[in-house]
Amino acid sequence: MRVLVLTGAGVSAESGISTFRGRDGYWRNLDPAKLATPEAFARDPELVWQWYRERRERIRAAQPNAAHHAIAKLARNADDFLLVTQNVDDLHARAGLPNEKMVQIHGDIFVTRCSRCNFSRLDYEHPPSQSYGAAGEQGQRQEQEQENVLPRCPKCDALMRPGVVWFGEQLPWSEAQRVENFLSCGGCDVVIVAGTTATFGYIIDWALRASRRGGELIEVNPEETPLSRFATRLVRDPAAIALPRLVDQMIK
Ligand code: OAD
Repeated sequence: MRVLVLTGAGVSAESGISTFRGRDGYWRNLDPAKLATPEAFARDPELVWQWYRERRERIRAAQPNAAHHAIAKLARNADDFLLVTQNVDDLHARAGLPNEKMVQIHGDIFVTRCSRCNFSRLDYEHPPSQSYGAAGEQGQRQEQEQENVLPRCPKCDALMRPGVVWFGEQLPWSEAQRVENFLSCGGCDVVIVAGTTATFGYIIDWALRASRRGGELIEVNPEETPLSRFATRLVRDPAAIALPRLVDQMIK
């Protein structure tokens, strides 16, 4: 069984993480041009960092839901499997999805990378309540996190930014290449697209190319999307209900 799964913010909604365009979605109340573009970061890096730190906190406090666990189960049972997620949270990984079977095409919110050179690091740990004395550089980083100091690159002293893809930016080449490599190995028996408005053309393109050889194209989303008319099956239920059921049917 060869499977491609594409996910979006709707899959993390039941873990308490806001979507972007749904009710109470980020882009309903916040202007992406002020928060998720290189220009916004150049104009007001404090504001941008403040928003990403709040999101990091919310994600640290969240847990993977039944949809994340079902996708991890499918990954363990399929002969050939790839998850392409637009989500920058780590809930798929925390549900047990190994990196080699997952592409975070819009980046990882816990990565902090230099806005000039290629330095990057993972900033996942919870900022500790006690002072950082003993922990040295690690502690200093948590202090910065805590005090909202703008992080600077230890190599070139340029501003560090969240390791996510912003509007107007290219997708990470190596990650996009991993998707192309998977697609070039042949069609899929099943393609599942869950919790996304399929706003970006490459999501629809990858879903159609993967299912072009007669594979099933299943959309899991309470609402209609531009992809719905191409789907062979529409599941209009929340992901945490639909995916465990769907996966159990597929692997029995
Ligand atoms: P959106 O907010 O655009 O879409 C969320 C989708 O999830 C909607 O179609 C909802 O109907 C659906 N949904 C909501 N709750 C759900 C649930 N419990 N189960 C299943 N589906 C549910 O989020 P994305 O499609 O992920 O990119 O947005 C794509 C990208 O646009 C994001 O990665 C981000 C955003 O701007 C960048 O910032 C580059």
